[in-house]
Amino acid sequence: MALETQTKTVVGQFDYSDEDVNKGVTEFLRQMSEGLEKDGASLSQIPTYVTAVPNGTEKGLYMAVDLGGTNFRVCSIQLNGDTTFRLTYTKVAIPKELMVAKTAEELFAFLAKQIEIFLRTHHGEHFEAHIRRRMTMSSPEGFKDENVFRLGFTFSFPVQQLGINKGTLIRWTKGFDIPDAVGKDVCALLQTEIDKLHLPVKVAALVNDTVGTLMARSYSSPGKSGAILGAIFGTGTNGAYVEKLSKLKKPLAGEYDNSTGEMVINTEWGSFDNQLKVLPNTPWDIQLDQATPNPGIQMYEKRVSGMYLGEILRLAVIDLLKNPDVAFFRDENSSSNDWRSTTNIAEHSPLFKQWGVDTSVLSVAAADTTPELSILRQELESNLHVYAPSLEDAQAFKAIACAIGRRAARLSAVAIAAIVLQTGKLTDPELEGEPIDIGVDGSLVEHYPYFRDMIYEALRAIKGVGEEGAKRIRIGIAKDGSGVGAALIALVAAGMEKTTSTTDFITDLRLNAKKTDLTAVPEHSELSELAAAE
Ligand code: BGC
Repeated sequence: MALETQTKTVVGQFDYSDEDVNKGVTEFLRQMSEGLEKDGASLSQIPTYVTAVPNGTEKGLYMAVDLGGTNFRVCSIQLNGDTTFRLTYTKVAIPKELMVAKTAEELFAFLAKQIEIFLRTHHGEHFEAHIRRRMTMSSPEGFKDENVFRLGFTFSFPVQQLGINKGTLIRWTKGFDIPDAVGKDVCALLQTEIDKLHLPVKVAALVNDTVGTLMARSYSSPGKSGAILGAIFGTGTNGAYVEKLSKLKKPLAGEYDNSTGEMVINTEWGSFDNQLKVLPNTPWDIQLDQATPNPGIQMYEKRVSGMYLGEILRLAVIDLLKNPDVAFFRDENSSSNDWRSTTNIAEHSPLFKQWGVDTSVLSVAAADTTPELSILRQELESNLHVYAPSLEDAQAFKAIACAIGRRAARLSAVAIAAIVLQTGKLTDPELEGEPIDIGVDGSLVEHYPYFRDMIYEALRAIKGVGEEGAKRIRIGIAKDGSGVGAALIALVAAGMEKTTSTTDFITDLRLNAKKTDLTAVPEHSELSELAAAE
């Protein structure tokens, strides 16, 4: 009984009512405007210099790399021009020590090495041909420009963008911490290491993963107005949307094409409301924040994204375990247990270690609808080393996990609704009845059960959206934004290079790609071939 009552108290602290959601939207809109007016606001609202979204007819072969979470991906993407594409990629885990390396060079040298391995494996013929050509050329700088791969660099951290392939790192997030890189141009850092290896690769575009997601969604499912928002709900969270240039009041440093009257803005909404004016703040949110390398920053992200939800759950569970009046994960004898023995927790249980609980446990808890919660109880045993948990234990654990997941989804609705309202698309008479398209990606939205349904439930309760508006908002998964989207932006960037003709090079590569069947895969990497499904 005590456990049930205490659990309810904990769960209650994660409530995020319809009223809270509406307050959140109002404040989000205010912080968006502030970010469009000046630098240094909580919502950075970073101009990306991308001024159009694709329409599905784009063609060509491009490269993309993606740094932003636990893995580094290298891809080549064949855009077929008919809304489909073919993607080849390798993925390698980023060694933990490189995430906190002393110098930027250490990390970026590792990235360049992976690009070399990828080229040798998947575009070997082309690569070798150019090595030969380079050796016979008198020019010391190597390759002719038209023989160089255009690469889109998806770098999913806050960057002050200074042009389509230039941007300085504002701060690290998601557990990365290499102070040496802060303030430096990340494209130049990568290009330097690529050049040291003499690779035929030019970093043509710098892309946030949310911008890539927006591009990929627009390419694969073009509607009357293209997608308006690309959002990530994964290890971190963020969104990029299409804004009218007239609303962008702060000065822009670089050149851009203003013919569309629009520009994609990277909101960096992970830092929405760092001041905690409207964000919920439980004792466990406070504890979590204080133990991170960036306290007081990314406060919205710390309540929403996959990197943090497992830790919030762990902290709440630990508090309940410490309560002497509550029998949680312990019993006097096995009689109250439907399984074999007395409940206990191993000393080495991940429950006692910071970051020990992976957010995937929340998904398992939410997905288990068996009457005995047997799947969750098995997970508690095998993953968290809680032996013979009772049904009541599992129910309490599930209730808390679901409350945290539900709050995250409702908070996600705040950002989505604010952006929809900001664009004015719901009330645009030209778009009457048309879907408002949003591309999303990330482990939470993909794997957490009913995450999208919970977002929709909150959207229906938002003033200015309501039942009708929510019906028009189409939230669809946009897989591989960081590959396809980056390729699309590299394509735009290549078009902007006045002196270059890439046609021969692309024809050459396309022939090459047809000939190369994807066989050899480097060890410790994954290979996949995908076509846009939607
Ligand atoms: C970063 C964003 C990124 C998001 C999703 C956040 O931590 O600041 O740039 O888009 O994670 O990967």
